[in-house]
Amino acid sequence: NIRKKIIAGNWKMNKTVSEAKAFMQVLLKELEEYSASDVVVCPPFTALQSVSDLLNQSASQVRLGAQNLFPASHGAYTGEISPWMLREFFCHYVIVGHSERRIHLGETDIFINKKVKAALSASLHPILCIGENFDERQQGLWKEKISTQLQLGLKEVEEQKLADCIIAYEPIWAIGTGKNATPEQAQEVHHFIREEITRLFSFQSAQKVRIQYGGSVTAENAQDLLLCPDVDGLLIGGASLDVRSFCSIILNSK
Ligand code: G3H
Repeated sequence: NIRKKIIAGNWKMNKTVSEAKAFMQVLLKELEEYSASDVVVCPPFTALQSVSDLLNQSASQVRLGAQNLFPASHGAYTGEISPWMLREFFCHYVIVGHSERRIHLGETDIFINKKVKAALSASLHPILCIGENFDERQQGLWKEKISTQLQLGLKEVEEQKLADCIIAYEPIWAIGTGKNATPEQAQEVHHFIREEITRLFSFQSAQKVRIQYGGSVTAENAQDLLLCPDVDGLLIGGASLDVRSFCSIILNSK
């Protein structure tokens, strides 16, 4: 497999600075010599500085990701954070288009596409989240939904930058519900996503793009999901908050 696995923890709106530091101290000790998969932690903005400092002092290869950005370099955008501000903290990744932001903050595919391009132009790796809700799955509409989100989310992305993008398939019905997609369901969708990327770009480029699965991943179900040929990693919410379970997922990943 030409694609290195990538395991990311999305802390969402969790952990104070002191909690973040305590978590990172254990994580960095556990992963001091680990390099089999890429590992990313995405703390809230308020903890980026302290997590960044700890990463810079350690020999580990754990990378920093942010949970959001605003698609402009600076300006009158109250409450927002620019790609360059994230770069200052040595962020390598940024989550874009998470369903929680689509639902609670009204983010559209067009706005998300601007964020993908802004991330790329600042040399950040966007983790573009896509996925259908329960009704869309029930009605057999997941292909249409995913196809649209991919097409609009990746619009005008240059093919040579595509390999810098990570796609995260996160079925909304599986997020925080304890009801993960089965490995068969995940593989079916991931394979479809790769076919769609082939259609939008090329076979060669689609083979390079890493596609993560997210939605109720635990230390118990992670390995079976990672065994699927088109599942190139995981985007973990709840189980990434507990350092023991996050480490166990990483250390057991193949
Ligand atoms: O970004 C992470 C996903 O939303 C999954 O969250 O692992 O808590 O279900 P979860």
